[in-house]
Amino acid sequence: MKHLLTLHDWTSEEILDVLKLADKLKKETKQGVSHPLLKGKTLGMIFSKSSTRTRVSFEVGMYQLGGHALFLSANDIQLGRGESIYDTANVLSRFLDGIMIRTYAQSDVEDLARFGTIPIINGLTDLVHPCQILADFQTIAEHKGRLAGLKLAYVGDGNNIAHSLLYGCAKVGMDIAVGTPAKYACDGDVVEKAKADAKKTGTNILLTEDPVEAVSGADVVVTDTWVSMGQEAEKAEKVKAFDAYRVDDALFGKAKEDAIFLHCLPAYRGYEVSESVIDGPRSVIFDEAENRLHAQKAVLATVMGQ
Ligand code: CP
Ligand code: NVA
Repeated sequence: MKHLLTLHDWTSEEILDVLKLADKLKKETKQGVSHPLLKGKTLGMIFSKSSTRTRVSFEVGMYQLGGHALFLSANDIQLGRGESIYDTANVLSRFLDGIMIRTYAQSDVEDLARFGTIPIINGLTDLVHPCQILADFQTIAEHKGRLAGLKLAYVGDGNNIAHSLLYGCAKVGMDIAVGTPAKYACDGDVVEKAKADAKKTGTNILLTEDPVEAVSGADVVVTDTWVSMGQEAEKAEKVKAFDAYRVDDALFGKAKEDAIFLHCLPAYRGYEVSESVIDGPRSVIFDEAENRLHAQKAVLATVMGQ
């Protein structure tokens, strides 16, 4: 049984293979070639949090692969009223061929995979967002021609995006510098696991409180919202803590001259990124958003295909 729970669980080869498949699906779909790789299969999509990109790209992706997707708002299924993950996993496994879930606790996603008998795809938890980073890698490779040997800088909150970048970069050999305030640093367990992988692939990982040090000489600059879903009550405190971490022209100017800018979206202009950077000529945010579709079709075909 193949799941996508975190990028740490996948080997470097598995990640590079799925990216290769994503490129092929993207190219061929644009040429009018169809890929009925999941004909007759159904994906359940459980959402405990809002979504634009994840919901639409998974639904369109299943359609393009000849299958069907069911939107299951956690509030509208019995899970939201306290039905156990154990019972939910067992029941849904009898109806569906795979589940994509967006929720809070990573342990809920892991439990779904443990108790069910169908592939589980993590569509974002408080801890990680693996599908996003596969799309990011596809985008970076399109613009830079490679992944290994580049330097990626992430500045801002040590959140799910930062964690999946750490896991992913360590697997594909892309150096990563993460600049966060000490109070909002990345999870220690994630950092330890990424460092162990980085040793094997010869990847450099730098963790710093200095955003300028993080961005200096980077080929790719990434940021994300300072206030993730579920943290709305912390907004005032976080906005204050992150003021020096805004990716504006001055900070982006520390990166290489041909550096590109990525943001998973939704973005909050004037907070984590200035309008001049996110809407500037080196921003690739809409290629990145489009690649959610292609990268996830590759994931779906890999975990749910024959
Ligand atoms: N980047 C991303 O996951 O967007 P949504 O929250 O709109 O799905
Ligand atoms: N870190 C953000 C990502 C949104 C796609 C959040 O969890 O809300």
